[in-house]
Amino acid sequence: MRVPLDGLPAKVTVYEVGARDGLQNESAVVPVEVKREFITRLAGAGLRVIEATSFVHPKWVPQLADAAELLGGLERAAGVRYPVLVPNERGLDRALDAGVTEIAIFGSATETFARRNLNRTVDESVEMFAPVVERARAGGLDVRAYVSMCFGDPWEGDVPIEQVVSVATRLLDLGCTELSLGDTIGVATPGHVTALIGALLESGVDAGRLAVHFHDTYGQALANTLAALRCGVTIVDASAGGLGGCPYAKSATGNLATEDLVWMLDGLGIETGVDVHRLAETSLWMAERLGRPSPSRVVQALSREQGSDQ
Ligand code: HMG
Ligand code: MG
Repeated sequence: MRVPLDGLPAKVTVYEVGARDGLQNESAVVPVEVKREFITRLAGAGLRVIEATSFVHPKWVPQLADAAELLGGLERAAGVRYPVLVPNERGLDRALDAGVTEIAIFGSATETFARRNLNRTVDESVEMFAPVVERARAGGLDVRAYVSMCFGDPWEGDVPIEQVVSVATRLLDLGCTELSLGDTIGVATPGHVTALIGALLESGVDAGRLAVHFHDTYGQALANTLAALRCGVTIVDASAGGLGGCPYAKSATGNLATEDLVWMLDGLGIETGVDVHRLAETSLWMAERLGRPSPSRVVQALSREQGSDQ
């Protein structure tokens, strides 16, 4: 039954990260044709933004070393956006060669994670991103900026809100069109989410440009998403079946499962365009290929209803 709640948006854009954030963290390398079928099935379930892969150094993330091959043979569905991660100009060149029309850079709110993930200080990473954003924007591409470790860092502990606002506004000032707040290790709780988004809005960031990216390590991702929606956020990152993590932050587990998100939004009468049943079928299909069950509660419940063994 659909029962709306006051103060929430009528529509949410689900930004699907399973093919990138999910698969980058699998110990097994998933064959390129399985990745393509996964992405095609995600589009078939109604997802309209599917982060497809990363043009990072192949030695840093071997799971996504096939980025060019993947996109080369991918049939793009009409009306679907396929952004990719790009850390530097070398990555941008590779992405442009592959016909990409939308990219995401990925900064860090903390020095330790900037070093571990990008081999740079925060300042050096902003310098590395500057020409990427400039060239991409000049070429008509949209550029999302991620900020990782917005709510806590496994090496540095608590991360002050002003530190996150400072990095976020530096990345937006480069010309990025969207900002995704990463809870890389899943430690955020709803009050913290509300406080960070409030501080960003107060510093002049438009709510329409904000996205949230919650890993579900401590089971807080859905509650945190609701808090973000109440603050005016309308773009939510999630990964089909709850796939995911980050190879450079071992304490990161999967993202908020897209099915769990869509189930809640459906119940609230918020439009996403996603068919949760078709999506869950895709996650079951992927779970079979990965050889382990999906951690998503909604995928598990729907598969029990259908009498599957999952
Ligand atoms: P580096 O070793 O400092 O690279 O790595 P460099 O700039 O010194 O270059 C060294 C060599 O690598 C050069 O080759 C470059 O051409 C080559 P040489 O001249 O020696 O022959 N190179 C590349 N080759 C292919 N593609 C490239 C590329 N760049 C350089 N793009 C670098 C710096 C940024 C490249 C590296 O640190 C890297 O690839 N890091 C990516 C790590 C990553 O992908 N992490 C996961 C994604 S982030 C995440 O998951 C968090 C998120 O989900 C949000 C959240 O949850 O918080 C987004
Ligand atoms: Mg992530």
